[in-house]
Amino acid sequence: MSVKPSTIFISDNLPVLRGIEDASVDLVYLDPPYNSNKSWVAFDDDGNVSAHFKDTWTLADIDIAWWGRLASKKNAKLYSVLRTVQDLDGSRNGKNISYCVYMSIRLLEMHRILKPSGALVLQCDDVMGPHLRFVLDAIFGPKNMVNVVAWNRKPKGVGNIAKKQLPRSFDYIYYYRKSAKHKFRPQYREYDDLSNYRFEDEKGKYYAVGMAKNGSGMLYEFEGVTREWSCTEAKMRELHAQGLLVQLKEGGLFYKKNYLSDAKGVLVGNFWDDIDAAEPLKGVDYPTRKPLELLKRIISMTTDRDDLVLDPFCGCATTCVAAEVLGREWVGIDLSSEAVVLVAKRMKVQLPGDMLSPKINQRTRAPKPIHSISSKEELKNRMYGECEGECIGCGAWKPHSDMDVDHIIPRKTGDHEIEFDENKQLLCRTCNNRKSNRSMKKLMEANLRDGIISKKYYDKVMKSREWPE
Ligand SMILES: C[S@@+](CC[C@H](N)C(=O)[O-])C[C@H]1O[C@@H](n2cnc3c(N)ncnc32)[C@H](O)[C@@H]1O
Repeated sequence: MSVKPSTIFISDNLPVLRGIEDASVDLVYLDPPYNSNKSWVAFDDDGNVSAHFKDTWTLADIDIAWWGRLASKKNAKLYSVLRTVQDLDGSRNGKNISYCVYMSIRLLEMHRILKPSGALVLQCDDVMGPHLRFVLDAIFGPKNMVNVVAWNRKPKGVGNIAKKQLPRSFDYIYYYRKSAKHKFRPQYREYDDLSNYRFEDEKGKYYAVGMAKNGSGMLYEFEGVTREWSCTEAKMRELHAQGLLVQLKEGGLFYKKNYLSDAKGVLVGNFWDDIDAAEPLKGVDYPTRKPLELLKRIISMTTDRDDLVLDPFCGCATTCVAAEVLGREWVGIDLSSEAVVLVAKRMKVQLPGDMLSPKINQRTRAPKPIHSISSKEELKNRMYGECEGECIGCGAWKPHSDMDVDHIIPRKTGDHEIEFDENKQLLCRTCNNRKSNRSMKKLMEANLRDGIISKKYYDKVMKSREWPE
């Protein structure tokens, strides 16, 4: 699907992302759930629950086939990051690994739909941020990490937390480009200190920089003052004609005027403490809503007018409103049906007076996937997820590429049920070759006899399975 701008999808973002064309989006910004281990709720003006989302993660939140997909050869780096997260979790289905698998399968799609000049900007806190940074390194390549920004969101109430740990006030903003063709637009913020701009004339405030420069070799008389100057006489005359030179005292040296109105401001670095957390917005509040100014900066930094911005976890669509204000095309996706109601309301409240609210398209059906995956491959992925890469025949962990789909009851029996999925399993290539047209029982006996498996493993497996002779 080529995405129709000004659209909000009320849907899980994965099927929608799968239906978006390759290399068609300029910026993906995402502010996903942070694995905060709680459920977020917002209330409307009458105190009723208006929007909520769950941010607790277990294996039940992920499709086991994703594991197999992530384990395939082309995702080898990503898979090794995920195995590390699993080791750190100390559990095969811990909350961090479940969260990272959930995010990884979606981030792969986001990477696919970005144009070569595009960027992905992911916002998270310090709990899952570092994990996601490694996931992004594995998907984008570490050389495509443009910046990590710390946004000081300045917590309002510190409450009890200050008794146990330092108050946590930062979000991290991970900024990756798709390739070296990426467009980056430097950003400037207003000066905090204008004390340099000491002088003022009819064109406004300015600061003055002396034009005399000892040792420059450009010695000449200019308007009755003989000095070594910092530029040629012709250039001095030009500046003078433009009204840009001034003498601060009669007969004194010449200075160049630098007007505040010509200054871009202070170049924004990777520590942002000039944007406060979002203030409550009457009638359109939403849990974890981000400030409009933050999104305006991110969009201005990474895109030009008419570019397409996509937010796959759009909430009350701060990104969509900011994109509209800045003249960019936008698409938002959220599970919550509140998103589409709120974005329309916010456009009314937050667009500048002279801007008309756009017509918002609402969709609930995901488009057809661009790259379909065969049912054979999906079955292998599912089985790989279920066995966690462990070959039942030898008990060893094997990469996805070393595993084959095997018929438990061999094909040669001619039994018509052998093609059912229940008769299929994964075996590592070595066990599959050893088994050949024999039964599983025979393979296990052979593996025990040849010292490939221990008696303990043999007994455990044979007790848990009912394999025919
Ligand atoms: C942190 S909030 C985003 C807030 C948003 N940046 C704003 O300013 O309003 C995360 C959002 O992700 C949504 N969400 C969670 N899982 C999702 C999924 N699989 N697909 C689409 N949206 C999802 C939740 O409903 C929630 O609105």
